[in-house]
Order: sequence, then structure tokens, then C-alpha cells
Amino acid sequence: MNDHPAEILPARVLHVGRPNLVGRDRFLGYVGQILDDLRFTNRGPLVDLFERRIAEHLGVAHCVVTSNATLALSLAAQAMGLTGSVIVPAFTFVASAHTMHGNGLRVIFADVDPDTHHIDVDRLEACLAPDTSAVLAVNLWGNPCRIRELEAFCAKHGLKLLFDSAQAFGSTYEGRRLGGFGDAEVFSFHATKAINSFEGGAITTNDAELAARLRLLINFGFSDEDCVDDWGTNAKMPEVCAAMGLSSLEGLETVFSHNRRIFGIYAELLEGLPGLTLQPYGAGEEAAHHYVVLRIDDALPVSRDALLARLRAARVMARRYFHPGCHRSEPYRSMPIYEGVSLPVTEDLCQRLLCLPTGLAIERPDVAAICAIITAAAQPGPDAPSANGV
Ligand SMILES: Cc1ncc(COP(=O)(O)O)c(C=O)c1O
Repeated sequence: MNDHPAEILPARVLHVGRPNLVGRDRFLGYVGQILDDLRFTNRGPLVDLFERRIAEHLGVAHCVVTSNATLALSLAAQAMGLTGSVIVPAFTFVASAHTMHGNGLRVIFADVDPDTHHIDVDRLEACLAPDTSAVLAVNLWGNPCRIRELEAFCAKHGLKLLFDSAQAFGSTYEGRRLGGFGDAEVFSFHATKAINSFEGGAITTNDAELAARLRLLINFGFSDEDCVDDWGTNAKMPEVCAAMGLSSLEGLETVFSHNRRIFGIYAELLEGLPGLTLQPYGAGEEAAHHYVVLRIDDALPVSRDALLARLRAARVMARRYFHPGCHRSEPYRSMPIYEGVSLPVTEDLCQRLLCLPTGLAIERPDVAAICAIITAAAQPGPDAPSANGV
């Protein structure tokens, strides 16, 4: 498949979401402390410290860390008392929808804005059902949604507002860090995220009662040694994960500035190629720049999937986030209530986007090699397939 000179091929496999390792010595120091103290889990001192550091960093009153963001979303929905149906964008990682569905809530899939890829606030009214209790908005790619408008919409209709900010740790909206918007926000510290704790998540909120309820739910409902005050599960973060999270958080600026630089190199090397657009980050706002999202339009002589095949043949493991869209994934696509659901913007984006490698494992020569493959694919040639074919 690949007909490019060997010298432009990357020297190794290049991944999207390779873990960022910062502060190896700090991490090993924390691990020594865990082993000396024999405090492995059950809200040890490092989980406590990680929660305080997150809350301070984000400027939010309460932070409850969890074993992952999926459980955090699910427990947030329970603690917020959601019922009936919840409006969720179809263009997101499937956990956003699964967590609501798994709680017995009916997911109403909303379409997204073609420019921001966020839930389309202007068309939310049409998604409302009489039993709708909440909107779950996703701060996709680390860019914030139109938060003020979402807050106004939810206030007008008496709905709760939960943010899936799994991809948005450290991002700002109107100069203020995400974490304290809506009723609650959920972050992910999965290994593939800019800031990671191997696996992990956090729920942040300014609502003390909600935070207190969440503390019960993540720990089997225990309010004290032998007192169970609520239903609950085990969503506790172990100490070793908090150690990684703390080390990662202390190295946040290293990761963010590296990613900003890598994003700038992609922008420079892809500039002017017809049919290709990089998803921008908000001017004047902070963001991890952790997602290099390339949009492929019909002006490119090859389709998104043909470009993906060329990249993969050269060991560049680009990703089709979030193909094919939640509503076209199981269990939703086989459920009669979703039959005939048409979400044109989501469906179009699912055919057009590619996520490219970034993070501390990626350097300028890697980006140059990736962009050379893309540039070669952008040249019209006798064997160039049509825009919609591979
Ligand atoms: C938008 C979104 N929501 C939820 C999740 C789930 O996070 P976790 O893997 O920590 O459960 C992810 C993780 O990839 C995500 O990107």
C-alpha cells in the first residue's frame, strides 16, 4: 500500500494515547512511602492529597477520586438522582452513553455542532422529552462546550447538568478552569489521557451534599467502620494510582507545553493542504492540546479510511475517534427506540476525522514523517481513489 520513500517512514510504531510519564523519581518515592506504610487503598494519604491538589488546581470546592471515569459518571448520575431520560451527544466515547443506559436511564442522542463537535445547544429543545431529567454534555477534545448557554437551557427546563470532562483536565472556559461548572464534572486519568494515574477518575462539584453522597457510593455505602448508610459499590482509587496521578499532575506544564509545541508543528507542516483541517483549540484558553484531530474533506484525493490505511501501513496508529457514533453502536443500534434516528453531523464527522499521535513520546521528526505521508496522500495521482472510496 505504501509507496513512499523509506527514509520518511517513522522509525517505530507511533501511537495515539501513549502514556505520558513525568516525574518517574517522584512516583518511585511515593511508591516507597506506600510500601513502608502498608497503606494500599481505602482512602489513604495519597488519595487524600491527590483530591486536595485537584480541587486546588481546578478551583472547585470538592473532588472525589475514583477508580475510573466510567464509574464516576455512573455514580454521579445516581448521586444526582437522575430519572427518566438524559440528553447525550452521539459523538463521544461510548462510556458517556453506556453509563446513563446502565443506570436505567433512556439516552436521547443529540447531534453535535459541525465546527466544535460539541452537543448542539441550538437544537437541544427538540431533544427534550417529558421525562428528561438532565443533559450530559461532553467537553470533547479538551475544548469547553458553550457552557453558559447549556446552564441557561438546563435552568429554564429544570434539568440537571453533568459534564463529561474526561478529556478536559486543565482546560479553561472564559479563563476559568473546568471543574466547577454545572452540577458536577467528571475527569478521566486513564493511561491515555494527558494527566494519568494508570486508571482513574474524579468527580468535582461545588455541591457539598452531592460530594458527601458520592463518598458513600464509591465505598459500598459505608459512612463509618460498620455503618452502611446507602447503596454503594467499590469505585475507590488505590494509593499507587494516586501516586501516579500526583506525579503526573506535578508535571502538567511539561506535558501541556510539549503538546502545544507538537500541535504547532502539525499546523505548520499541514498548512495549505487542501481538504485538511486541524481542529483548533480556543484562542486565549488553556488546554492540554492532547488531541490532534484532523478533518478530511472531499478536496483531499483520498478518503479518511484510505489515509488511515496509508498511515497504518507506515506504523502510524491513527484512530477514527468516534466511529461509528454511539447511536450506531450496540446496544443502541439494535434497540427499536433508536430505529430511524438520524444525526447527520455526527454521522458525517464519523467519516471524516482522524486522531494523530501526540504526547511526550512524539517529537518533531515523528510529526514530519506523519505529515509527509499525509502530504503524499494529498497529491492528486493516477491511482488516487475518489473522495469516498478507499
Ligand atoms: C469522553 C470520555 N468519557 C468517558 C471516558 C471513560 O474514561 P475512563 O477510561 O477513565 O473510564 C473517556 C475515556 O476515554 C472519554 O474519552
